[in-house]
Amino acid sequence: MKTYGLIGFPLTHSFSQRYFSEKFAKEGIANCQYQLFELPDLKDLPALVGNTQGLCGLNVTIPHKQNVLAYLDELDPVAAQIGAVNVIKVLANGKLKGYNSDYYGFKLSLEKMLRASNSFADFGCEQPQTQLQPQQTQPLQQTSPLPSLRAFILGNGGAAQAVKAALNTLQIDYQVVSQKNTTESIGYEEVSNLMSSHHLVINTTPLGMYPNLATAPLLPYCQFTPQHFAFDLVYNPEQTLFMQQAAQQGATVKNGLEMLYLQAEKAWEIWQ
Ligand SMILES: NC(=O)c1ccc[n+]([C@@H]2O[C@H](COP(=O)([O-])OP(=O)(O)OC[C@H]3O[C@@H](n4cnc5c(N)ncnc54)[C@H](OP(=O)(O)O)[C@@H]3O)[C@@H](O)[C@H]2O)c1
Repeated sequence: MKTYGLIGFPLTHSFSQRYFSEKFAKEGIANCQYQLFELPDLKDLPALVGNTQGLCGLNVTIPHKQNVLAYLDELDPVAAQIGAVNVIKVLANGKLKGYNSDYYGFKLSLEKMLRASNSFADFGCEQPQTQLQPQQTQPLQQTSPLPSLRAFILGNGGAAQAVKAALNTLQIDYQVVSQKNTTESIGYEEVSNLMSSHHLVINTTPLGMYPNLATAPLLPYCQFTPQHFAFDLVYNPEQTLFMQQAAQQGATVKNGLEMLYLQAEKAWEIWQ
């Protein structure tokens, strides 16, 4: 029996366990199981790996995505650049290799959003790939220059690092917007000065996520236009308050559900 699973703490409900259990059943993938491994302290990871028969791969969630790097033998170059791992592959020799599939999920989902609105054509870009290719696990490559498209990244936590790497690959300039005062970021009160030059707004904060449906990033929503894109990494609810307010001004909006599925499929591809 091949075993896959999720490490994190606390693990109350898990998208990954439901997704992979349903995938195994639906696609007739035999002799595979997906388990939850609640792991308050990462120092227990080597024992978990050693004691779990048939362990082939793990997903990693809060709060271990960054600290887990110290427990890995190898690191995919993309994950190394991002500084966070959400997928671990147990190699044939028993060593652990870390990857970041959020990067792939976000990049492909964003490309689909821009392509659907013909923005790649507008910005004179090559058509992006629609399939996740194995060679995408190679070091980051600059692929699709979008010279006129600039982005705001709202929040500067774990998921924001994967978003930055994806935007770097797509050559989309970005400005981080944070509650914290850093040299890399601006404050929310400064966004209104730049809304007309930044047409892609990406929410990587948990604001608006169930059950806090009435919360949203503090933005000048009246400045969204039909030329704007609002991408929310939040996937529950389907339409967040951030998306609703941007859509009211005619902006194109997208939630994080497709990204969630794409990163899960990328994890499966990595484990094969
Ligand atoms: N769709 C997907 O596949 C996918 C994948 C990964 C994550 N996500 C979602 O992305 C969101 C962020 O996840 P994460 O792992 O990056 O979390 P995280 O590491 O905690 O980072 C979230 C960041 O949001 C900002 N923030 C938090 N609370 C805020 C508040 N009250 N007001 C304004 N800003 C606030 C903070 O940035 P500053 O301090 O810099 O402002 C914080 O670092 C979650 O909702 C998660 O479910 C979705």
